[in-house]
Amino acid sequence: MRENIIVLDFGGQYNQLIARRVRECNVYCEVHPYTISIEKIRQMAPSGIIFTGGPNSVYGDDSPQADPEIFKLGVPVLGICYGAQLLAHQLGGVVATAPVSEYGRTEVTIDDRSGLLEGLALGGREKTGCDTPDNTIMWMSHTDYIREVPEGFRVTAHTPVCPVAAMENPEAGLYAVQFHPEVMHSLEGFQILQNFVRKVCGCSCDWKMDSFVETTIREIREKVGDGKVLCALSGGVDSSVAAVLLSKAVGKQLTCVFVDHGLLRKNEGDEVEAVFGPDGPYDLNFIRVNAQQRFYDKLAGVTEPERKRKIIGEEFIRVFEEEAKKIGAVDFLVQGTIYPDVIESGLGKSAVIKSHHNVGGLPDCVDFKEIIEPLRMLFKDEVRRAGLELGIPENLVYRQPFPGPGLGIRIIGEVTEEKVKIVQEADAIYREEIAKAGLDKSISQYFAALTNMRSVGVMGDFRTYDYAIALRAVTTSDFMTAEAAHLPWDLLDRVTTRIVNEVDHVNRVFYDCTGKPPGTIEFE
Ligand code: XMP
Repeated sequence: MRENIIVLDFGGQYNQLIARRVRECNVYCEVHPYTISIEKIRQMAPSGIIFTGGPNSVYGDDSPQADPEIFKLGVPVLGICYGAQLLAHQLGGVVATAPVSEYGRTEVTIDDRSGLLEGLALGGREKTGCDTPDNTIMWMSHTDYIREVPEGFRVTAHTPVCPVAAMENPEAGLYAVQFHPEVMHSLEGFQILQNFVRKVCGCSCDWKMDSFVETTIREIREKVGDGKVLCALSGGVDSSVAAVLLSKAVGKQLTCVFVDHGLLRKNEGDEVEAVFGPDGPYDLNFIRVNAQQRFYDKLAGVTEPERKRKIIGEEFIRVFEEEAKKIGAVDFLVQGTIYPDVIESGLGKSAVIKSHHNVGGLPDCVDFKEIIEPLRMLFKDEVRRAGLELGIPENLVYRQPFPGPGLGIRIIGEVTEEKVKIVQEADAIYREEIAKAGLDKSISQYFAALTNMRSVGVMGDFRTYDYAIALRAVTTSDFMTAEAAHLPWDLLDRVTTRIVNEVDHVNRVFYDCTGKPPGTIEFE
C-alpha cells in the first residue's frame, strides 16, 4: 500500500490546499468527504488523517461530526479550525462562541515545542513576522473557539483571544490547531504540516513525480492489454500529458483525434501537430480534423454568447463522433480530468459546480467500454511536473489556460473568419511582447479579444473606421476571482503601436482594468 494521508472534508474552503501542501511534503494525499465509511479508511491504510475547517458550529443541530471510530484506528489525527473544535467537542472538551472573532493574520504564542510545534517561532522576525520571541503569525478565521481541552490534552499555543490556539495529546496521536497552517499567510504553517507528516505520522516522504509516471504507465499497460484507446487531444496541458502517458504505455494502440475548430490561437494547430503528429517524438496515431469551415458556417450570424458556446460544443462533439465512427469500437476513452475537477464536481459539502468549463457529452458519442483518467489524482502543478518528466516541450507544459470554445468567446458578437484572423494576429503580438518582457510566467492568463466596436481613426492622411482590440491580463490563484495585472505602460505602448501598425482593420487598443468579480476573465 502506498504511503498516504487522508484529508476529511468538513466543508472548508481550503481542503484542496491542505492536500497540496501535504503532497509538497512528498506524501500522497487524497481528499474525501467526512462521511466516508470507516471500512474505506481502513482499506486505504493512511499514515495520518487531517480534519479540515468548515462553516458550522460543532454544537449546531446538523453539524457534521467525525465517526468516533476514527479515533480508535491508531492513526494520528490533525484537526484544523472546525476540525480542531470537533476533536475538542467529541472528546469531551468545551467549544463555545469566542468573545470576539479572529480573522486574518494573528500573532500566536507558542507554549510548547515538544510535539507538533517543534521548531516554531525560533527564527526571529524574518521567519515569524513577529518581534516577540515565542510568537509567530498564523491565519485565523473563526467565531467559535476551544475553551477547555479534553482530558489527556495539553495546550501548546494561545492567542489573546483563544486560550487554546493549539492542543495535543501525543499518547493518543491527536493534534489540533485553531488556525490554518495550509495558507501562505501562516508563515510557519508548512513547518507544522511537515512536522505532522514526518514526525507524528512517521512518513518517509518519498512520493515523487517520476514514481507517479512510472507506476501510471505500468498500470495503464496492465489495464489496456492489447485494447484500443481513443483520446480527444486539445493541445492543452491536461490532454497532452494524458496522451503522452498513454502513448508511452501502449504506443500505436492509442489514437489521438485533434479537432481544429478554427478558433485556436495563431499557428496553434500546426504546433500541436508538430508535437503529436507523425514527425513528432511520440508513438501514436494522430488524426487532425480540419473542421474550421464547418464551425464558421455554424456560427454565421450568431451573436448571443451562450448560443455560440453551445454551437461550438455541439459541433465539436459531432466532428469527434464522425471520426470515432471511422475508427470503430474502442475499448477505452481517455479523459484529461484532473483532481480539482474531481473535487469540484461534488466530493464534500464545499463542492463548487463549474458548469461551462468542459466539453460535455463526449463519452456519449463514442463506442467504448471504459474511461481512463490517468491524471485524476493530480493537481495542475503536478500535471505540469509529470509533463516535464515525460519530456513534453516546456511551451506546451506551461501553456496558459485556453477555453474550449477558444477565440469564439474572445470575439464579441458574430464570429467570422476575418475576425478570427484579426484577433489571432493581435494576440500573437501581445503574447510575444509579454514573453519578451519576461512576464509570461508571472501573469496567470493574458490574451487579446476583439470588441465588436468600430470607431473613427486616422492612418496617414486617411480616415479609418475600424475595430478596437481589448487586451486582458489577470493574476489569480484559482480563476474564480482575479485581478487585472499591472502591466508596465511602456509594454502596453509597444503592444498598441505594433497592433495598430501590423494588424489590418484595427485602429484602437484598450486595456481591460476590470477584476473578477465584477468582470469575468473571458469576454463572453
Ligand atoms: P471566466 O471567463 O469564467 O473564466 O472568468 C475562468 C477560467 O475558465 C476558462 N474558461 C473556460 N474553459 N471552457 C473551458 O475549457 C469554457 O467554456 C470556458 N470559459 C471560461 C477561462 O479561460 C479562465 O481560465
